[in-house]
Amino acid sequence: MKTIVLGADHGGFELKNTIKAHLEAKGFNVIDVGTNSADSCDYPVFASLACQKVLDGSAELGILVCGTGIGMSMAANKHHGIRAACCSDTFSARLTRLHNNANFLCLGARVVGAGLALDLVDNFVNAEFEGDRHVKRLSLIEDIENGKLVK
Ligand code: RB5
Repeated sequence: MKTIVLGADHGGFELKNTIKAHLEAKGFNVIDVGTNSADSCDYPVFASLACQKVLDGSAELGILVCGTGIGMSMAANKHHGIRAACCSDTFSARLTRLHNNANFLCLGARVVGAGLALDLVDNFVNAEFEGDRHVKRLSLIEDIENGKLVK
C-alpha cells in the first residue's frame, strides 16, 4: 500500500485527522507531520515538512490542509519536484493524478466539508498517472522550474 504524508495548519488539523483515520482504515500507511492543535501556526512550515517526505522517498503522495488549501499549494509548489493541486471537485482531484502526476492534493477545510474531502482524497490516492503525451508537458514544467523559460 502507498504511504501518504499528511500536513496541516491550525485551520486544517481537524480535517487532516479525519483524513488520517480514513486512510488508515483503508490500509494506507500514513506519516503525519502535524500540526496537531488549534494553536495558530504557519502553513509553509508544515507544507515543507510534508514535501520533504515525498522528495526523500518516505512517502509517495501527500495531502495538505489549511483554511483554503491555497497557501499550502503555493508553498508546496515552491519545492522542486513537487506538483501540488488545490482541488474542491472530485473530477479535478482524479485528473490531476492522471494528467499532471500531481504528488500533493491541497484541501481547504473552510471550503469543503468532511464528506466531500474524503471523496476528493479517494479520487486522488486511487488514480495513477497516465504517462504518454503528459510526460513531455511535465518535463516542460520542470524546464520552467529550472529557469529555462519556454520560448
Ligand atoms: C490561516 O488563517 C489561513 O490563512 C490558512 O489556513 C490558509 O487558508 C492559507 O492559505
